[in-house]
Amino acid sequence: MWSVARTVHPEWLDTLPPDDPRAVRSRRDLRRINSSMLQTRIMAASLKRYCRQAPRTILDLGAGDGVFMLKIARRLASRWQGVSVILLDRQKIVSDETLGGFRKIGWGVETVVEDVFEFFQRNDLEAVDVIITNLFLHHFAQPELARLFALVAQRTDVLAGCEPRRAHLALAASHLVWAIGCNDVSRHDAVVSVHAGFKDGEMSASWPAMKGWELHEWPAMLFTHCFVARRQQNAEVRHDA
Ligand SMILES: C[S@@+](CC[C@H](N)C(=O)[O-])C[C@H]1O[C@@H](n2cnc3c(N)ncnc32)[C@H](O)[C@@H]1O
Repeated sequence: MWSVARTVHPEWLDTLPPDDPRAVRSRRDLRRINSSMLQTRIMAASLKRYCRQAPRTILDLGAGDGVFMLKIARRLASRWQGVSVILLDRQKIVSDETLGGFRKIGWGVETVVEDVFEFFQRNDLEAVDVIITNLFLHHFAQPELARLFALVAQRTDVLAGCEPRRAHLALAASHLVWAIGCNDVSRHDAVVSVHAGFKDGEMSASWPAMKGWELHEWPAMLFTHCFVARRQQNAEVRHDA
């Protein structure tokens, strides 16, 4: 078992303008990386397992181009109808085609272009049933992650996150993403992401120490580390604004 401490360093994709050709290409690479890691399958299975009922609203933090959430929506649309999705990212990169994809399956969609911490400061924020994150939580060092989790816990009943696993095999694979055609940005960010990834109970340890929540954290497939925080049934209700 790999025991080296987490290290969080800036990812190049976060520093490039959205329309920079290297960023555009790296977003495409990210879709391939998600496919190779089986992230949509893992996330959809987590949601099916831990959502007690069909959610009315799902918020995707760090949603990127929204394609990951659309793939999840397509997997779940036959059992969950008419869900409203909010895609939050600080970059404006969701295409009309992706938005149309949600509407085609009868799901609502809106985009929010904002930093996640600024978003949660809003006074008019309504609670959502489920929050998901894919390859997002690893951007934050422990104090920020704990701050984010404290904000999330006030706004939802379920948080489901799929992140890079900090392990030898994942690190080796991150050095090989050139083999699936990834550019320099993606090659850099893949390695940085694994060093910032999670293992064991590291995400649970950052969840606020409060009653009324059950925490689940586990390695999934070859490269992924999952976290679910779920409000216990009959626990105190969340704080709607
Ligand atoms: C590795 S990408 C993952 C995108 C998407 N979840 C996917 O799987 O394709 C991480 C995303 O988080 C966004 N991001 C990073 N820090 C953020 C912050 N503080 N607030 C909002 N978005 C952020 C980036 O712009 C980027 O789109």
